Amino acid sequence: MPKNSLAPDWLKTPSDSNALALGVWPKHAQRNSSGEIQLAGVSLVELAKQFGTPLYLLDEQHVRESAEEFKRLLELEFNKLGASATVYYAGKAFLSAEIARWMIDSGLKIDVASSGELSVALAAGIDPKKLGLHGNNKSNYELETAVNVGIGTVIIDCESEIGRLQEFAARAGSVQAVRLRVRSGVHAHTHEHLATSHEDQKFGVSLQEAPRLVRLIRECENLEFLGLHSHIGSQIFGFEGFVEAISRLLALHKELLSDGPVPEINLGGGFGVAYVSNETAPTISEIVTALSRAVGTEAERLGIPVPNVCIEPGRAIIGPAGVTIYSVGVIKDVEVDSGNRVETRKYVSVDGGMSDNPRPALYQAEYSARIANRSSDRPPSLCRVVGKHCESGDIVVNNEYLPSDIISGDVLAVATTGAYCWSLSSNYNYLPRPAVVAVTNHRARVIVRGESERDLLSRDAGLSNEFQEGEQ
Ligand SMILES: Cc1ncc(COP(=O)(O)O)c(C=O)c1O
Repeated sequence: MPKNSLAPDWLKTPSDSNALALGVWPKHAQRNSSGEIQLAGVSLVELAKQFGTPLYLLDEQHVRESAEEFKRLLELEFNKLGASATVYYAGKAFLSAEIARWMIDSGLKIDVASSGELSVALAAGIDPKKLGLHGNNKSNYELETAVNVGIGTVIIDCESEIGRLQEFAARAGSVQAVRLRVRSGVHAHTHEHLATSHEDQKFGVSLQEAPRLVRLIRECENLEFLGLHSHIGSQIFGFEGFVEAISRLLALHKELLSDGPVPEINLGGGFGVAYVSNETAPTISEIVTALSRAVGTEAERLGIPVPNVCIEPGRAIIGPAGVTIYSVGVIKDVEVDSGNRVETRKYVSVDGGMSDNPRPALYQAEYSARIANRSSDRPPSLCRVVGKHCESGDIVVNNEYLPSDIISGDVLAVATTGAYCWSLSSNYNYLPRPAVVAVTNHRARVIVRGESERDLLSRDAGLSNEFQEGEQ
């Protein structure tokens, strides 16, 4: 079949538009003998019937296995170098009480980025010592709450946090362990809004400012300095940025060692995942090997002991384990003049959109989709999966080949939606947020209840009591 010239270069016309590309779909997703996609043994058609669409699904075992693999391999590699290793799960990727417990069961700690995320973890019964608090604009309330509940660490992002934390810790009669987030100046090769360590942005302090701030921290009786923190961005495939950041961080780490202990460094998260079949993301083993090699080599070159290492992956743990299912509605064949000929793009509308996944609109993120309720032997058509919102940028899957006989009523599954979809979701156009269902071992259960329109109306103070929470 000739390529549709509207398709981007990277999108190849598939020989089988039913296939679930390895690494893009959850480990336990496959088609059953009737052609339906199933997750951990449960048909997505059954899940759509039982829980409705749109619906977020998580392959629970996949999430747990990724978390465990990060911990096991990181410890293995750094123990060989005489250091310890800690994996924090970046809760911003997707946090609920259940997910928090999966992480703790897997031996991870959790990084939270607001008092809201902190509340979820605490309400889930997580030991506060296993939590780290992030944020570039932490309020006094957030800092004081974190100190008072006995949070494990606070990642200091600016000078003013030092004095405020000292005051709260002194008041609580405790010593608060802290890290200092630095901008290493490394620009990760990723979307501009996902790169966080180059100079012209809001996070952390510069490498030049850091020694003075560490001195200030060390002067505080109620603060304990653990080390430097760097997060260079997100959805990063190569290791060059990490290697460069490690080199800059360890040079500063060595300088700081001359004035006192610096037990660890924290390298952040940002490890990329494959959203489409032409992408090959680094495996967890490759990530860990690259980081341990870079830290080991650099420490040896500088003549310093290998520090204990922390990392904070979010997306790489939960992203590929997620699938969102939608019901297909209106389909339009739109003729587009591509310059030398008129081509057709099929617009496939689904019952969700940018409210359940704003990443295509925010970052021009690409995704993969498949018809979930059947397989088809029809030739593929170039499709754009769009939502039901009042925005032309309301795109769910920008470029995908789907079987040309796709019809209204089909169930459509979009892969790799485990990270930064539910957590970035909104109620735009008053669409209630979908439920989150975890599937494992032939069993499905709701781990976050979906919203109803009534939930949304109940917060509108302009409505009469009959709509308020608790009223029926
Ligand atoms: C400080 C910090 N750590 C970890 C992460 C997790 O990144 P990712 O989900 O890409 O691994 C982020 C994401 O923005 C972050 O800001």
